[in-house]
Amino acid sequence: MKDGSLDDRWRRVALSTSGNRSDDVHRLFSNIVNEYDFLNRLLTFGFDGYLRRQAVIAAGIQKGSIVVDAGTGTGELALRAVRHVGSEGMVYGVDFCAPMLDLAREKARQRRVERQVHFAVEDVRTFSFPDGFAERVLMGFALRNVPEIETVLGEVRRILKPRGRFVCLEVFQPEGSLLSPFVRFYLHQIVPRVAGLFAPGGEYTYLPNSLTSFPSINTLLGMFEKVGLGPPFAQVFLGGTSGILCAEVTD
Ligand SMILES: C[S@@+](CC[C@H](N)C(=O)[O-])C[C@H]1O[C@@H](n2cnc3c(N)ncnc32)[C@H](O)[C@@H]1O
Repeated sequence: MKDGSLDDRWRRVALSTSGNRSDDVHRLFSNIVNEYDFLNRLLTFGFDGYLRRQAVIAAGIQKGSIVVDAGTGTGELALRAVRHVGSEGMVYGVDFCAPMLDLAREKARQRRVERQVHFAVEDVRTFSFPDGFAERVLMGFALRNVPEIETVLGEVRRILKPRGRFVCLEVFQPEGSLLSPFVRFYLHQIVPRVAGLFAPGGEYTYLPNSLTSFPSINTLLGMFEKVGLGPPFAQVFLGGTSGILCAEVTD
């Protein structure tokens, strides 16, 4: 795969951002369903699994809870949350990309937890869940893909019960730490090339590029407070390149 074609692919995604970026994001994730889990493991040296475990711990899920995993993809976070809800609880893994959900359902079936997890097509900007539906909303590496962040946060706040908790796991543009130049080099130079060997459509140029316009952790925490989620706090990892942001319904 030549660099030029990777760039072309990204340019197409970037260009139509002004049109309908959601369609591009949808298409992109539909194209990489089969490589997604493997490439996450490979490109993070397995660290993504650690982060997901930490995010589920931060959620403090009680038995009998209803948990929504928004932008669930192949269900990695939802399938971890299932272990905590018990037979009385339920996890809803939702995503607008049906092929990702097909794989999530298959994983649930293989792990024999399909009774405790339901995967459904939903757009995180307009959930069909009623107000005050869930004790916990989780979001893993998904918020970055939605341009309408405030709309998503408003929807998260709406479907949470009083004192419900939102946990958002994300990757951030590395700034101001000693690790920053190395992480930036890894994300922009190594990730697209290594991923390109397995997903030759150039989709993985999208990852580093999606970080550049994504707000910082502090800006995001401010946005949480604006929609009534607080007091927000963040656990940061790898010099601020990833973070788990948590907040509860305040009113
Ligand atoms: C990087 S993947 C993360 C998947 C999973 N949460 C994980 O931890 O691996 C981002 C997911 O967000 C989904 N997504 C992006 N925009 C969405 C939207 N507006 N509504 C629902 N899902 C969306 C994509 O389809 C994709 O599956």
